[in-house]
Amino acid sequence: MGKRSPGGLSTLLWIFLVCQRWRLSDSLNGEGRALLALKGKVEVDPYGALANWDEEDDDPCAWCGVECTDDGRVVVLNLKNLCLKGTLSPEVGKLIHLNTLILHNNSFYGAVPVVIGELQMLKVLDLEHNNFSGVLPSDLGDVALDKLDVVSATTRGLLGVELKQNGDEHDNKNLGPPDPSANSKSPPPPPPVVSVMPLMTVPNGQSQKPLVTGVPALRRSELETACEDFSNIIDSLSNCKLYKGTLSSGVEIAVTSAIVTSAKDWSVQDEAHFRKKISELSKVNHKNFMNLLGHCEEEVPFTRMMVFEYAPSGTLFEHLHIKEAEHLNWTARLRIAMGLAYCLEHMMQLNPPPILRNLNSSSIYLTEDNAAKISDLEFWNVETEADWGSSEITKESSTVYKFGIILLEIISGRLPYSEDDGLLVLWARSYLSGKRPIKDMVDATLDPVPDEGLNALVEVIQSCINEDPNERPTMKEVADRMMLITAIPPEEASPKLSPLWWAELQIISSEAT
Ligand SMILES: *[C@@H]1O[C@H](CO)[C@@H](O)[C@H](O)[C@H]1NC(C)=O
Ligand SMILES: *[C@@H]1O[C@H](CO)[C@@H](O)[C@H](O)[C@H]1NC(C)=O
Ligand SMILES: *[C@@H]1O[C@H](CO)[C@@H](O)[C@H](O)[C@H]1NC(C)=O
Ligand SMILES: *[C@@H]1O[C@H](CO)[C@@H](O)[C@H](O)[C@H]1NC(C)=O
Repeated sequence: MGKRSPGGLSTLLWIFLVCQRWRLSDSLNGEGRALLALKGKVEVDPYGALANWDEEDDDPCAWCGVECTDDGRVVVLNLKNLCLKGTLSPEVGKLIHLNTLILHNNSFYGAVPVVIGELQMLKVLDLEHNNFSGVLPSDLGDVALDKLDVVSATTRGLLGVELKQNGDEHDNKNLGPPDPSANSKSPPPPPPVVSVMPLMTVPNGQSQKPLVTGVPALRRSELETACEDFSNIIDSLSNCKLYKGTLSSGVEIAVTSAIVTSAKDWSVQDEAHFRKKISELSKVNHKNFMNLLGHCEEEVPFTRMMVFEYAPSGTLFEHLHIKEAEHLNWTARLRIAMGLAYCLEHMMQLNPPPILRNLNSSSIYLTEDNAAKISDLEFWNVETEADWGSSEITKESSTVYKFGIILLEIISGRLPYSEDDGLLVLWARSYLSGKRPIKDMVDATLDPVPDEGLNALVEVIQSCINEDPNERPTMKEVADRMMLITAIPPEEASPKLSPLWWAELQIISSEAT
């Protein structure tokens, strides 16, 4: 910034004041008139929310639910939870500076105006919980969808899931029925929420071999861009490679790709296992799971990929056993344990429950705020399927056992197996049975841990690792007991932030049509 003489400054101020005056004294501008047209299509407004949207008032920026830039352009329209009933006027297309349109939880009906697709600045569109009919105009896909964070709820049954951005807390400040005394004040800023759009068109039938699952089919070229030409390898698993990718919005994803690169090395069974895996994983959808976001099958070049959420803070294993990783205190460890318990409980209730062959501290990733995310990134688990057959009970008791071991690892900070101590379960026996004081089993790097909770947790561990699988509790019983011990409910155990994976992937997949 250059120096500015006092004279220059006052000239600027003068111009500013003149402009303000001019703007205020001008009769209602185009955006104001568009807003009035919107109001005109609202048939029922039980709370009188739009009462101050008044022709006589020439400053629409002061109207309820409207927010403007400093120079008076309407950028936000937030009419959430107002029980408004009516249609959405195509005049909305005249609000060309709009970046946020939230009509969440009203009774708008009829078609969504095509002109919404022409709103170039629009980033957030939340039409959820309304009675709009039909599908979103297909033009929308061509015009502005790449700039729009819209999510199709139908693809993952995500209706009602809210996605948050930039770490802001969820909007506690519902606009709600307006407070009459605050009628002329501007409403609270819109929540940084991106919405779930229930009626968006979902691509289907566009691929030659439709793989019908709950998650979108993505194009290799899109993933190639996101993963910087697949240069960003973060791990190699037994039958696939793991890449990290970044979507254009900055959201990070994990992509696993089969190491097979030619169709002739890919058997019919491989394809069947792959499809089974995708279909199983696409049903999980839990906040403490590295959810499957999409998949990709292309023949030239031969491609089989799965796209997952990404958790940036490394694995639980690293945090417990590697000095350089951030140390986890007792509270953080309990929160992780609860995230695991809730996620596994959820998974065991699916039909069929997914097989987690590799469930251990290395397959549990941590989010930025150290919430647990169970991963299952391998392409298939052939042996396990054969081993376990179809017995759901065996699957569950085996999962419960593994959970018990992880809990032991979390509390003791010891490896599941070490040269010095052998198997952790065996090492822990004398503590668990009470021959030695339980508190001596606790990770020495932790501050003293309350006895009460510790003893109760040890009981849970003992029941989980019971030698007789039939005597082990179910995951639900485990989660319920641990909830009583830790008092950490599912919401607290889940990650605070949910980046906008769904949004952008849905857009990519709809462009693939
Ligand atoms: C919808 O809005 C009404 C009225 O403000 C409110 O009572 C209700 O809780 C809202 N529902 C949801 C799901 O937000
Ligand atoms: C949508 O319409 C149905 C049937 O007309 C009605 O029962 C329901 O309450 C409406 N929902 C909303 C959010 O207006
Ligand atoms: C435990 O660690 C978390 C961060 O992971 C921190 O917010 C919390 O204050 C710590 N609790 C104690 C008791 O030190
Ligand atoms: C977790 O399982 C994987 C695959 O079976 C194995 O390579 C890894 O060593 C295990 N990690 C731990 C901590 O047991």
